[in-house]
Amino acid sequence: MDLTVLVVLQVMSWPCVSALFTVQAPQRFYEAEFEGDVVMGCRFQPVPANLHDDLTVTWQRVTSTSSMEVYRMENGMEKLGSQDPQYRGRVRLLTDELKDGWAKLQVSRLRISDTASYQCLIQIGDADYKTITLSVKAPYKSVNKTIQKSADGDEVKLICRSEGHPAASPTWHDGNLVSVTSNKSIERTPDQLYRVTSWIQVKASEKNNYTCSFSEDRSATFHIPDEIPKPHVRNDALIIALTATVVLVVVIIAVLRHRRQKGNHEGQPVNLQALLPEAGQIHLLEGAPESGKTTIAQMLKSSWAGGPTHGLFNQSELSVLELLLSVDCSNVESDLFHEIMTQLCLEEKKSTEDDLRTLLSGSTEALLLLDGYREGNQVLDDSLRRFLREKKVCRVLVTACPGHCPILKETVGTRGVLQLQNVDC
Ligand SMILES: *[C@@H]1O[C@H](CO)[C@@H](O)[C@H](O)[C@H]1NC(C)=O
Ligand SMILES: *[C@@H]1O[C@H](CO)[C@@H](O)[C@H](O)[C@H]1NC(C)=O
Ligand SMILES: *[C@@H]1O[C@H](CO)[C@@H](O)[C@H](O)[C@H]1NC(C)=O
Repeated sequence: MDLTVLVVLQVMSWPCVSALFTVQAPQRFYEAEFEGDVVMGCRFQPVPANLHDDLTVTWQRVTSTSSMEVYRMENGMEKLGSQDPQYRGRVRLLTDELKDGWAKLQVSRLRISDTASYQCLIQIGDADYKTITLSVKAPYKSVNKTIQKSADGDEVKLICRSEGHPAASPTWHDGNLVSVTSNKSIERTPDQLYRVTSWIQVKASEKNNYTCSFSEDRSATFHIPDEIPKPHVRNDALIIALTATVVLVVVIIAVLRHRRQKGNHEGQPVNLQALLPEAGQIHLLEGAPESGKTTIAQMLKSSWAGGPTHGLFNQSELSVLELLLSVDCSNVESDLFHEIMTQLCLEEKKSTEDDLRTLLSGSTEALLLLDGYREGNQVLDDSLRRFLREKKVCRVLVTACPGHCPILKETVGTRGVLQLQNVDC
């Protein structure tokens, strides 16, 4: 009986001897950056005299219900056969430090998904382990700014976008540090980052600065209206079109100067506000032959092109126009776009014509000026009707003699018809 108790006591006390071997985790929590490196360490003692034969180190990733192997060294030999593929090539044990009693695991090219609990299990005959938590974060770094014009013109959408982890809620304030309500959308990238897009809508005409902040030191500021982009032409063919227009206008300016030197049309008041159609509108300017329609059209063009100031047109009113295409309709034989291409000396190509069509019909900043139109040419009339039907926001100004455009006049309606009077040539 006594002997049995003694044996039992001895068996029970035996683990106390092995408890001398201990593993410590001096740092239980690590935070590291996405795509960076981290070294997590466990300290063990005593350090066995013969590391190569006696030491087995296993690092595993654990949840409450499962574990996966990240790294294993068995009796001094690396054993990566059962390593989980997501850690392949990214982990190593800093073996130099084993002799000092450190089992340090380095994980490189960190992923968001490396955020987890890890266990270092160390065996020297006896075994002990500790659990360490790793959290991988991706600070929001560069903030991308975009400004979008809204369809109705007076408002702009200011957009900030950045990627990081965890999900951010960007805040906005204006130049007076007054906060501005914003909307946001969040997507996941293949790297499991959050792509956060945040936007506000503001008045384009009001001078102010707006700042979006993703974190204390990550923000971007918009200076409105200075930073609102001027619409630009997206396509070579269209750049050619613009250049050709400018060339045309230069020629016209020369003609105009010549005429002015002869003393024509000095100081005729023209109400440009009324003349220039709103986006999407058509204006028909009617006037008797030689009443000055063409001259007005030419002055419009030269003022737009930044020519000599006539005192007739206010250039700032013309600044809404980015593109002015003018067609002299006195000798037109083919359809409208064919004619535009010919007059602009553009190469006859279907794609160029399509680009031109798209540019004209889709731009609130474009004006198509048809000078001296006269209905009766079936091909031209049909092509103009088609364009007017298809055009969305383009402005159209047609000049004609009274009675020359009955169909167009009906289409335009009384509001769009302007009469040129009291202009003597
Ligand atoms: C920001 O813009 C740059 C250049 O356009 C692009 O390479 C980068 O991916 C963008 N970043 C985000 C977060 O959208
Ligand atoms: C906007 O920022 C600029 C430059 O920082 C500053 O000169 C200007 O006064 C600011 N404007 C407003 C309305 O806050
Ligand atoms: C934000 O979203 C709400 C609801 O969809 C909408 O009413 C509001 O106009 C949006 N604000 C901005 C600035 O887009």
